[in-house]
Amino acid sequence: MKLIRMTFDKIYQYNFPTAIRFGAGASQELGDYLQKNNLSRPLIVTDAIVAQLDFFKEIINDLKKKNISVEIFFDIHKNPVKSDVYKGTDAYDKTGRDSVIGIGGGAALDVGRAIVLRVNHRDDLFKYDDLIGGDVYVTNDVPHFITIPTTAGTGSEVGRSAIIADDETHQKKILFSPKLLAKIVFADPLLTMDLPPFVTAATGMDALTHNMEAYLAKMPHPPCEGIALEGISLIKDSLDKAVNKPDLESRSKMLIASLMGAVAFQKGLGVVHSLAHPLSSLLDTHHGLANAVNIPYGMEFNIAGFENKFKRIARTLELKDETGGAVVKYLFELNSKINIPHKLSDIGVKQEHVETLADLAVADFAHLNNPKPVSREDFRNLYRKAL
Ligand SMILES: NC(=O)c1ccc[n+]([C@@H]2O[C@H](COP(=O)([O-])OP(=O)(O)OC[C@H]3O[C@@H](n4cnc5c(N)ncnc54)[C@H](O)[C@@H]3O)[C@@H](O)[C@H]2O)c1
Ligand SMILES: [Fe+2]
Repeated sequence: MKLIRMTFDKIYQYNFPTAIRFGAGASQELGDYLQKNNLSRPLIVTDAIVAQLDFFKEIINDLKKKNISVEIFFDIHKNPVKSDVYKGTDAYDKTGRDSVIGIGGGAALDVGRAIVLRVNHRDDLFKYDDLIGGDVYVTNDVPHFITIPTTAGTGSEVGRSAIIADDETHQKKILFSPKLLAKIVFADPLLTMDLPPFVTAATGMDALTHNMEAYLAKMPHPPCEGIALEGISLIKDSLDKAVNKPDLESRSKMLIASLMGAVAFQKGLGVVHSLAHPLSSLLDTHHGLANAVNIPYGMEFNIAGFENKFKRIARTLELKDETGGAVVKYLFELNSKINIPHKLSDIGVKQEHVETLADLAVADFAHLNNPKPVSREDFRNLYRKAL
């Protein structure tokens, strides 16, 4: 297979994100930012667990001290669904809000972003599904949107899309528009200091998957390839530490690397995300965990024909053996160190799920940007191998 090269007779579109305030304590700037922007009635979108954490309560108290009226919406699923977005929009309407602040992991930030869309776009939410060209209907103004990530994984804080599933079929849809970009991100590693080891591991592997898949994705995009390689390097330095012996440095490196992964994946994702999405749809598996278990198998599938790119990844990981095989071995070893199982059977997948998973995977959007085509047969074989 030939490597996909950049041709210099075409025009490419490259997008870079919003203003980012990154560093320990950055979230304390929120109140002043709202006041400077004449925003006094935000809807805070989070989840039921984050809503109980001390740092969240401190943020809310600080806003109240500044006479900012706060309405908190936290009634969301771990893999968010359309009805979550409708309920959140009702809360926005009924309490007369002027802005949306997402504080949480990817789930809360995605629901926040989808509410931002729905406030002034009231047709069925999935009319705006990017896969059916729905982005063209995102024409009206949207409320001021601010994101504060509390996991280091999805990078949704810098994203332009929200992943929301159908309540009945659980199929994930992408709502996309450049209008859905946050106006500002407060990325504060202090908020991730007490993330439990399992969440750190699973979300961290999501970030690694974004950087690796983006680097390999077929669109030629040198700026994002550079970002993705640096993201991989930061994760190599810090994920094991962030899970097993966290400190501010490892938390900071993971937070910036996850944000970089999401910047990089404007290039596209690949086979691993398409293997992972059906696990969330069918079995409600956490997104990061689903990627973590699948990534060694998906990467192995991609090696043939792309040996040079795997050599760059191996170099970035400072592996002695600069091959794709060594990258796969590294991924299994990393999973062991952070207590991620090597087999899908360890996370509840059974032989009888394979055919449905393969149907869902081939219908998924992510593999369309994989460096090489992936057939239904390939997905079935990959699931069988990982079982
Ligand atoms: N928009 C995008 O570009 C994009 C990309 C990838 C994934 N996603 C979506 O993101 C979602 C997954 O996000 P996630 O991996 O961040 O998981 P999550 O949002 O479900 O959070 C994981 C768990 O950690 C808890 N948590 C969050 N912050 C915490 C903290 N600081 N301390 C303690 N506990 C904390 C949450 O309550 C939750 O139980 C999925 O719905 C996925 O589809 C979106
Ligand atoms: Fe992801």
